[in-house]
Amino acid sequence: MKLTTSTLAALAFSGTLATAGDVEVLHWWTSGGEAAALNVLKGDLENQGIGWQDMPVAGGGGTEAMTVLRARVTAGDAPTAVQALGFDILDWGAQGALADLNEVAAKEGWDDVVPAALQAFAKHDGKWISAPVNVHSTNWVWANKAVLDANGIAVPQTWDEFTAAVEKLSAAGVTPIAHGGQAWQDATVFDAVAMSTGGPDFYKAAFIDLDEEALGSDTMKEAFDRMAFIRANVDDNFSGRDWNLATAMVINGEAGFQMMGDWAKGEFLNAGKTPGEDFLCFRFPGTQEQVTFNADQFMMFDQGGVVSDEQAALASAILSPSFQSAFNVVKGSVPARTDVSNEAFDACGKQGMADLAAAASSGNLFGSMAHGHANPASVKNAIYDVVTAHFNGEYDSATAVEELVDAVSIAQ
Ligand code: BGC
Repeated sequence: MKLTTSTLAALAFSGTLATAGDVEVLHWWTSGGEAAALNVLKGDLENQGIGWQDMPVAGGGGTEAMTVLRARVTAGDAPTAVQALGFDILDWGAQGALADLNEVAAKEGWDDVVPAALQAFAKHDGKWISAPVNVHSTNWVWANKAVLDANGIAVPQTWDEFTAAVEKLSAAGVTPIAHGGQAWQDATVFDAVAMSTGGPDFYKAAFIDLDEEALGSDTMKEAFDRMAFIRANVDDNFSGRDWNLATAMVINGEAGFQMMGDWAKGEFLNAGKTPGEDFLCFRFPGTQEQVTFNADQFMMFDQGGVVSDEQAALASAILSPSFQSAFNVVKGSVPARTDVSNEAFDACGKQGMADLAAAASSGNLFGSMAHGHANPASVKNAIYDVVTAHFNGEYDSATAVEELVDAVSIAQ
C-alpha cells in the first residue's frame, strides 16, 4: 500500500499504525479484582498495537473454562492463548497441541529467572509450552479486622485457636466463615485443612504421591472432621455461592473469615480496602511454614508450527519484570520470576513473596491439589467429588475416607 498523507492521517487517527493482528485469550478472570488485573495485560498489548479478543468463561478454578477449551480444540478452533494450571498444561503439551516458546524463552532468559517449581509445569520435553504469569497459594485466611477487634479475637495460630475464634463469632451472632459451596472451593479449603491436620509429609503422601495408606488414614478422617466443623460454621446460603461473593461478606463485615487463595486479596483491593487496616491476611493456622501453590500460565496453541508475532509478544509481555510487578500487585499473587523487587507490593504481597522463597528453600513448597498442581484432572476431580459430598453431608468422615481411597484408585 502506498502511504499517502491522508492514509497516514487516518491510521494515526484510528491509533492502529501497527498492522499486528489480534490475540484471542480464553480465561476465567471474571470477578472485579481479576478483571482489574487482566486490564494490566490488555493495556500492555494494546500499547504494542495488538488487539485483544476476550473469551471469558466464568467459574473459579477454571473447570468450566477447561470444558469450553476442549470443545474449541475438538472443533479445530483453538484460541491463541489460554489461561491454564499445572497438570492441564502438561496434558495439552503431551498431546502436541502447544506452540514451542523456546525461542522467546531463550532470548529473554526464562530458564534463569523462573523458579524450578514453575518450570516443571511450563515445559514439556525440554520445550517451554506456556508463559507463567504468577504464583498464587491456597493456604491463606482473610479476615475482617473490625469484626475480629470487636470480638477480642487475635490472629489464630493453631487449629484450636481457630475453632475458639469461630465459636466466639458464632456466639456473637456473626457468620464465622464466609464460604461458597462449589466443589473447587470446598477443595481449596481442604488443601489447607489437610496440610494443617497432617503436616507436609502427610500432604505430600496423600495428595502428591497418592499413597493409599495416607489417603485412608486416621489423619485423613481427622481432616474430614475438621471440614465438618467448618461446614457447621458457614451461613445457610453458602451453597453454590461464587467465591468473590463470599469474599464480599468478609469485606462488608457480614462474616469473620474466608479460607481462600490470595486471588481474594484482589477483591479487597478492588473494594478500596487496605491490608492491616481493614483486613488481615494470614496463613491457615498450622501451615505457617508451608505454601500450597498454583501458578496461572498462558499456553499458546500451535498455529501450524510457528509462533505468531502476537503470541511471541504476549509471552514476552507476560514475563517482563515490569508486568510481573504491575499485574501481581493487583491480582493478589506474587511474581513468577525470582528477580522482581517486592517494593510495589503491600504487606500481604511482601509476606507472600517471602513465604514462597522460604518454603522453596526449606522443602515446604507443594503443588495445590485443588488447583491442578498435584495431579491430573481425573484424580483432582475424583477428590473434589468426595470432599464435596462429605461437605454437603452425604458421607460421614469415616465413609469419606473409604470413598476417597476408592475414587483415587479408580481415577488413576
Ligand atoms: C486461579 C486464579 C483465580 C482463581 C479464582 C485459580 O485457579 O489460579 O487466578 O483468580 O482460580 O477464579
